[in-house]
Amino acid sequence: MARKKIALIGAGQIGGTLAHLAGLKELGDVVLFDIAEGIPQGKGLDIAESSPVDGFDAGYKGTQSYADIAGADVIIVTAGVPRKPGMSRDDLLGINLKVMDAVGAGIKQYAPNAFVICITNPLDAMVWALQKASGLPKNKIVGMAGVLDSARFRYFLAEEFNVSVEDVTAFVLGGHGDDMVPLVRYSTVAGIPLPDLVKMGWTTQAKLDAIVERTRKGGGEIVNLLKTGSAFYAPAASAIAMAESYLKDKKRVLPCAAHLDGQYGVKDMFVGVPIVIGENGVERVVEIEMNAEEKAMFEKSVASVRGLVDACKSINPALA
Ligand code: APR
Repeated sequence: MARKKIALIGAGQIGGTLAHLAGLKELGDVVLFDIAEGIPQGKGLDIAESSPVDGFDAGYKGTQSYADIAGADVIIVTAGVPRKPGMSRDDLLGINLKVMDAVGAGIKQYAPNAFVICITNPLDAMVWALQKASGLPKNKIVGMAGVLDSARFRYFLAEEFNVSVEDVTAFVLGGHGDDMVPLVRYSTVAGIPLPDLVKMGWTTQAKLDAIVERTRKGGGEIVNLLKTGSAFYAPAASAIAMAESYLKDKKRVLPCAAHLDGQYGVKDMFVGVPIVIGENGVERVVEIEMNAEEKAMFEKSVASVRGLVDACKSINPALA
């Protein structure tokens, strides 16, 4: 059986890490595309030269030509400009919207059957714009945000409780902005919901509230530390988990920015919700029940995504 093909549009910090992880996990052959000449070629060759040491077989090709993504099974998009300190995700909108236009046209022409994962920020608006530009079926395109946001939440919780990260599950819904919705009631340690752990004296409500707040600002915390860019290890790991679920038909239940057509009362927008990812792409949107407080937070988050989508439409009326 031929190897799968993974195309990475954008070979920057996240793109390079994606390429390395895809090889280490032997997900398939990797094509790195970037407008910066030499970068995808150099990173591809460097990673390929690590393969004899780590013992994995994967082909690497760096390119400036969209023709090389032809027939890709999975495409992960990180092309664009990352956030700098003091810059909000929304500031990126105008620049990255143009990038999505170009990337969407490339996908439409050369790889219309791929499963596409978008990472470029502001995420929920960019995945929406990329779907419009590429014309991909709505079950074949998702945004990576919830896996990362819930990984951050899980890590902070595991640290607080001094337990393995493996035994902490967490749900973060809504848009990938500072008003994302970490769902405390649906987050657990080995099945025990967080509110019960507060009652059991494992932590206090105040500490839990602080962790929720740190999760919401998780991206900004890394930007402030790095100063020259934004997070890349955890975002890349998160997108690889989504790609693997598709390629291996694992049917994992993962929070992702998915197209909603009435679910959660939202129409024609991409918002972070739990979905099942399998061989058919988005196989199911899981609609969980929210209480009044959670619903209010979710709606606030959806309203900010709607604001971004409306801003995209006014920048480029052809998207409306
Ligand atoms: N086509 C292809 N590649 C492009 C284009 C384009 N039109 N425009 C920019 N790029 C490339 C840049 O040359 C760069 O190599 O995208 C790459 C982006 O890489 P980084 O600047 O290192 O950014 P990274 O940290 O990987 O983040 C990428 O993900 O989390 C989001 O906010 C983040 O939007 C950003 C994206």
